[in-house]
Amino acid sequence: MNVELPPTIRTVLESQILEKYPLSALTQAAGEVSSRYRREGQGHNFQITSEVEALSYLAARMPATFAANTMVMSAIAKLYPAFAPTSVLDIGAGPGTSTIAARQYFDSVETAQLVEPNYHLKKAGVDYLSAPLGNVTWTAGKLEEFKTQNAHDLVIVSYVLNEIEPKKLGSLVEKLWAACSGVLMILEPGTPQGAGVIQAVRDLAITQNINILAPCPHSGECPLAGIETRWCHFSVRTSRSKLHKVLKGGDAGFEDEKFSYIVLSREATTPQKYRIIGHPSGTKLREVQVCSPNGAETLQVSKSHPLHKLSKKLEWGDGFDL
Ligand SMILES: C[S@@+](CC[C@H](N)C(=O)[O-])C[C@H]1O[C@@H](n2cnc3c(N)ncnc32)[C@H](O)[C@@H]1O
Repeated sequence: MNVELPPTIRTVLESQILEKYPLSALTQAAGEVSSRYRREGQGHNFQITSEVEALSYLAARMPATFAANTMVMSAIAKLYPAFAPTSVLDIGAGPGTSTIAARQYFDSVETAQLVEPNYHLKKAGVDYLSAPLGNVTWTAGKLEEFKTQNAHDLVIVSYVLNEIEPKKLGSLVEKLWAACSGVLMILEPGTPQGAGVIQAVRDLAITQNINILAPCPHSGECPLAGIETRWCHFSVRTSRSKLHKVLKGGDAGFEDEKFSYIVLSREATTPQKYRIIGHPSGTKLREVQVCSPNGAETLQVSKSHPLHKLSKKLEWGDGFDL
């Protein structure tokens, strides 16, 4: 799947940021943020410490996390077409990327509450993204301290839980679920660590009988759990701006963002029987890696296979029935 930011946001990321800071300052800031992130790893908040770091983070990461959020929303819409959220709760919102994706994807969204402990990321959202964010309220502070009286239709926690100590995960997921009247979507980087966080959320959901809307086609044991060389993750493509190329290196015109996710819902939904868990390959004989109630398997799709016609259109991350 290909997902692009709306043109107004591209203008922010491709020119307004450069009007504020020279390329050299943005490049230095991006380097500092990413080396801090690599050094501190899971369980640490990578702490943006200035406006220039926040803006370099936006330019480097917003296209990819926006694309991943949009892909998850499209999975929700496929399996739960009646879902029309009016209120959004965006935890660890950063500059508000997920809320903007929700507004773009679901016309029904009216209000959003954004919870963000980092002053500079929040300020970047307020200063540069207030138009696409629309009617929102910002709450400073961490998920751990967050309290709400109202449940929200759509709760989003995007690339956040890996920054929180693993031992807090259980109580925080319970809190998120209590704040959700419709759908809770959680995304993490598509790394073994990120997929591990999602796996832990999945285990919690299953023990509490919570409906898993996506991506899992079943609530049995995850066939990828415990395999060192494989983990459940997906990929979405987005194009790269000139600034993005400078900040992150390389000259490819696009990037493939790898992410893991889980969507829980109050409404019982019926999963599709198969979820594609890798790029389908081959032309005459298609090989399609899937997760299904049978486990993880590779379907060999020849011309006579009932999936053959459809398989040409299917992509990594899609679900289907046979
Ligand atoms: C990698 S950024 C993701 C931002 C945004 N959600 C996105 O998808 O682009 C992680 C965000 O989580 C926030 N964060 C870290 N620890 C948090 C906590 N304990 N409670 C709430 N937010 C937290 C950070 O301040 C940062 O904005």
